[in-house]
Amino acid sequence: MALITKKIKGTEDVLPKESYRWQFIENVMREESGKFGFKEIRTPVFEHTELFARGVGQTTDVVQKEMYTFDTKGGESVTLRPEGTAGAARAVLEHALENEGLPIKASYFVSCYRYEKPQAGRLREFHQFGLEEYGTQSPVADAELICAAQSIFDRLQIQQLRLEINSIGCPECRAEYHKALKEYFEGYKDELCDTCLSRLEKNPMRILDCKSPICSKIAEGAPKITDYLCEECEEHFKSVQRYLDSAGVKYTVNPTIVRGLDYYTKTVFEFVTDCIGAQGTVCGGGRYDGLIEELGGKHLPSLGFAMGLERLLMVMDKQGIEIPDFSECNLYIATMGESAKEKAFELAMTLRESSMTVETDVVGRGLRAQMKYADKIGAKYSMVLGDNELEQKKAVIKNMNSGKQTTVRLDENFLEDFIIMETTDEDSSDIALGLQKDE
Ligand code: HAM
Repeated sequence: MALITKKIKGTEDVLPKESYRWQFIENVMREESGKFGFKEIRTPVFEHTELFARGVGQTTDVVQKEMYTFDTKGGESVTLRPEGTAGAARAVLEHALENEGLPIKASYFVSCYRYEKPQAGRLREFHQFGLEEYGTQSPVADAELICAAQSIFDRLQIQQLRLEINSIGCPECRAEYHKALKEYFEGYKDELCDTCLSRLEKNPMRILDCKSPICSKIAEGAPKITDYLCEECEEHFKSVQRYLDSAGVKYTVNPTIVRGLDYYTKTVFEFVTDCIGAQGTVCGGGRYDGLIEELGGKHLPSLGFAMGLERLLMVMDKQGIEIPDFSECNLYIATMGESAKEKAFELAMTLRESSMTVETDVVGRGLRAQMKYADKIGAKYSMVLGDNELEQKKAVIKNMNSGKQTTVRLDENFLEDFIIMETTDEDSSDIALGLQKDE
């Protein structure tokens, strides 16, 4: 049968058999960021187009080429969020969260939409985990934020991830830098792409992250922002480095990092790997002291980062990092006959009320097929119920791995018997492991 349609290019499905991998990394992200005081914020998947145009920046690739923008039936222009920072900032402003005390610390999981050419690690719908912090200009906040990202990567046991940092200064030092960049790129006017030619006047720094090979080659020789930092920005950047040093976080200063979004000021950083091909930036972020004002609020220095979940999972896969599947089935109850089916239904509910995962046949399969299914779903224990078991009010539970069998009562003692059986089974396997270690 021909499908009437398939998924849209650049999007992916997460299937039931692989969703535990997502849940695992998401839990680590929640737990680690929670230790730094971040609490989750949830914002809409679409916003007024103006928010991104102003927030992310008119001269960025994201706004110029990649946004999913459409007019609603009411004639409003709305855009599917290409990233999470602008929406979170809008929500902070709209709810006047600054009145509830500073700093405000928000975390988020968002799906994002960018019309880019799909390739490994680059999708049109992708997912980010991000942290945003509002109301501090202290370099200690920059370092702490980077530490939060690092602690997530450490918990996930990710290796060969380089942290690269830079400072792109404040509007004052940036003005001098823009002049120098303009002068430099004007010498290459004939070679720059059309988009970069228009950037030359409005925002020459954006030429530095143009994806065209010719522009990026020219950009290699461009003046570096680090030579133009004002005293305050330079001291801020040095201080961030001192804090990172004292936390034992390894990094390199890479003066070519400018980030592809317009809101950044001072510290910017990326975590990069070589193990997943060209799209090796797993996490990116930095300070954005002017964004809240740009969106109509008061001066509220802020900072944040976002990591791409798809890229992170790719790295873990490449590095062979095993992700535990906590969704395993505790017990599969196989049945023979209608009465057994009813009893299994009842016993399954009893165990589920005690937070156990239990499955029983809902398809009407024969015993062999039921056991095959139990094996396939990786059930830890299985139990067969038939007329005999019902009559004797007893059944045998089998450890699907070791083959060890234990008899349990099927009356009101079932739950207790099951728990005792499971605990003794686990204890004895611990003892066995302990013995092996001592030997
Ligand atoms: P970004 O560098 O555009 O920054 O994206 C952050 C991360 O999202 C990237 O490092 C990458 O892992 C992932 N990502 C970006 N585009 C794609 C794509 N097309 N397919 C798959 N993954 C992708 C931001 O979005 C900023 N809002 C980060 C930030 C938060 N800065 C301050 N606060």
